[in-house]
Amino acid sequence: MNILAISSEMVPYSKTGGLADVVGALSPTLANLGHDVRVFTPLYDQVDTSQLNLEVVLPDLDIALGDHHYRVRVLRDVDNPTAFLVHCPVLYARGSIYTHHPDEHLRYLTLGWAALLTSQHMGFSPDVLHCHDWQAAMMPLTLKACFSWDRLFENTRTLLTIHNLNYQGGFSSRILPDLNLQGSTHLLHQDYLHQGRINFLLHGVLYADGISTVSPTYAREIQTPEYGAGMDPFLRERSSTVVGILNGVDYESWSPEKDEFIPYRYDLDDLSGKEKNKKHLLHSMGLPYVEGVPLIGVISRLAGQKGLDLLGEALPPLLAQRNVQLIALGSGDPGLAQMFASLQRAFPRQVCFFNGYSEPLAHRIEAGADIFAMPSRYEPCGLNQMYSLRYGTVPVVHRTGGLADTVQMWNPANKTGTGFVFDHHDATGLHWALGRALETYRRRDEWPILMKNGMKKDYSWTNQARVYEELYRRLGS
Ligand code: ADP
Ligand code: GLC
Repeated sequence: MNILAISSEMVPYSKTGGLADVVGALSPTLANLGHDVRVFTPLYDQVDTSQLNLEVVLPDLDIALGDHHYRVRVLRDVDNPTAFLVHCPVLYARGSIYTHHPDEHLRYLTLGWAALLTSQHMGFSPDVLHCHDWQAAMMPLTLKACFSWDRLFENTRTLLTIHNLNYQGGFSSRILPDLNLQGSTHLLHQDYLHQGRINFLLHGVLYADGISTVSPTYAREIQTPEYGAGMDPFLRERSSTVVGILNGVDYESWSPEKDEFIPYRYDLDDLSGKEKNKKHLLHSMGLPYVEGVPLIGVISRLAGQKGLDLLGEALPPLLAQRNVQLIALGSGDPGLAQMFASLQRAFPRQVCFFNGYSEPLAHRIEAGADIFAMPSRYEPCGLNQMYSLRYGTVPVVHRTGGLADTVQMWNPANKTGTGFVFDHHDATGLHWALGRALETYRRRDEWPILMKNGMKKDYSWTNQARVYEELYRRLGS
């Protein structure tokens, strides 16, 4: 199949979260299955182009969106031929991937138009147009309204993948001319339009041939008012086309036996490296290592979604009463950063917080921690709990979305399960689950079995890419 994909993030070029990991791994996996995959993604100013082998596909492509004109250059990464980088410094050299600038919609409409116009130049006839998140969600409608004259797209079916329903790309209807929909504005959601609003994600939900999200549980949750973020009525309407496909893990990058970022490699048969990584991690973060003291790890965007406020409530009593340590890595919301910083001040020998973004440290925490805390309020899929399973770092999670689908509660009676799962999203629930984890950690006849149960799980992309392949074939039928 010819697969055209549009994504605002892609590893190794850009990343704020899991979307980048997913698109960066799914695309080459599909290519290895024999498909011609072309992913369009911005060339942000953070990308170190000196390290890349880029070839020019189109030196000058003019894109007009309403009264706005952009000249973009389309480049292809010779070493990663699925990646097409859209170079347009006036839009993508902003010092950060996402902005709150008034032209945010134009930054991503340009990306989508670049994908479709470049396909025309290349004579690339996609069987599938795969749109990720709100940034690409206007493209199924754009294809229908502005490109249906071109037989190149005659057989193109569209798929919207929702990685996070709470980011919808909501704009004022003043941007209407920028959509280039002239004769087709009746295709926009009219009630929203009358209220002066245009919601990008909604139009993906309305017009894509298929809608997927990143876990089966989240696929059900988003059709309820509780998790639907106002989109649930539209998703329920299209219920038969909404599917949940669990994300995979790129085990080339995230496996303790080959991880290049960690000082000591280890695997299922020889776990001795894990304790060495723990000692190294604690010392590098300025914390003492004492044998037998469990270490909890956190790696997260600091955002309300992640439920980290519960840690702020549940941890102080645990840290005060028990011998336990915490290393947290995260950036984002200043209030949450403040919360971790005060924990560190209150418990200086037990807690270390690194406020920032660090890929190497993320790997060292996965390898060095004993327990991984992920108390997300909602979680479309979540990758870190799956990374944790592979590293023998036992996850403690809230039963929601992809966390519910990937972590099974430990049952000491028959020694099954891979982690600790709490149902009620409050500090008591998290305190209970962490308490269970800490007690189990002391039981030397149980803990290694629990670790190994997780390490044996296989969430590789090869399996998941085949599920996407099947979905692509079914689209529109
Ligand atoms: P989300 O996409 O909602 O942030 P995921 O669990 O799907 O959640 O993916 C998060 C990804 O981002 C993981 O690869 C994680 O290691 C990484 N990550 C998040 N915050 C940081 C950080 N501060 N430093 C390094 N990596 C981070
Ligand atoms: C989103 C979600 C996360 C998911 C990731 C990749 O950022 O918050 O749960 O794993 O996308 O699909």
